[in-house]
Amino acid sequence: MRNPDAQATTGLSIAEPRFRVHVPTRRNARLQKVMAAVDADAALYALWVAQNVNAVTRLGMSDHGPVHMHLVANLALHLLRLLMKRGVQPSAVTDHGLEPDDAEVIVTLAALLHDVGMSIHRSNHEEYSLIIADRKLPALLEPAYPDPARRALVQAEILHAIISHRKGGRPLTLEAGVVRVADALDMAKGRSRIPFERGEVNIHSVSAMAIEDVQIEEGQDKPIRVHIWLRNSAGIFQVDSLLKEKLKGSGLEPYVEVLAETVGQEEPLVRTFRF
Ligand SMILES: [Fe+2]
Ligand SMILES: [Fe+2]
Repeated sequence: MRNPDAQATTGLSIAEPRFRVHVPTRRNARLQKVMAAVDADAALYALWVAQNVNAVTRLGMSDHGPVHMHLVANLALHLLRLLMKRGVQPSAVTDHGLEPDDAEVIVTLAALLHDVGMSIHRSNHEEYSLIIADRKLPALLEPAYPDPARRALVQAEILHAIISHRKGGRPLTLEAGVVRVADALDMAKGRSRIPFERGEVNIHSVSAMAIEDVQIEEGQDKPIRVHIWLRNSAGIFQVDSLLKEKLKGSGLEPYVEVLAETVGQEEPLVRTFRF
């Protein structure tokens, strides 16, 4: 039954034109093949639409559809490339003898499939994502990984990264940590506006609205700097509680520095608050 308070709709459907998910594949031929398979998969797109209907229309949550997939995949790839640039080795390379290109495939597909279980239900969606991903991955990987053994290794690493994004999840690989942190970084301006616009005034919705922009840069002391601009200090909650929580235990703590600053004059987001 639809939540009677949920007014928001996703504005997306399985009809054309689709929102195209795109990542910079650079010279990674395997990632190019994987992304061509993703782009050709209309059923996968339908699942992204379905997961967003559950999130936005039925639960009044923020966007969890194709745009979230696109942003998390790009953030994850960017984080991984910054780490590799500074000499940090992906776990697929150190533990399985795979190549950096394979690690890029792992974080990208894990990002694209991490919330697909929300097409079934939000609760325990991370586990449902595994069921769907396990079914989808062989076909998505096959063009790039004709060798079944190599394909199985890559698939196992993707599934590990997917399940590790759950609350209290414990990534055992660099790639899984990257996906967990990338998921938390999809918080720039307007990305979490749906609950706020529905009138849900609480520290979550207000602090989410206070984030103006998020940029991932090369750090000074550490390979990655997460630079966050706030238009109101309420955004500190997002940074200090939510982001810190996701970073903690991700395995990426030694590599990421976070800098948050307030820009310009503070705008009041809430004039009155009663209960
Ligand atoms: Fe999720
Ligand atoms: Fe997510």
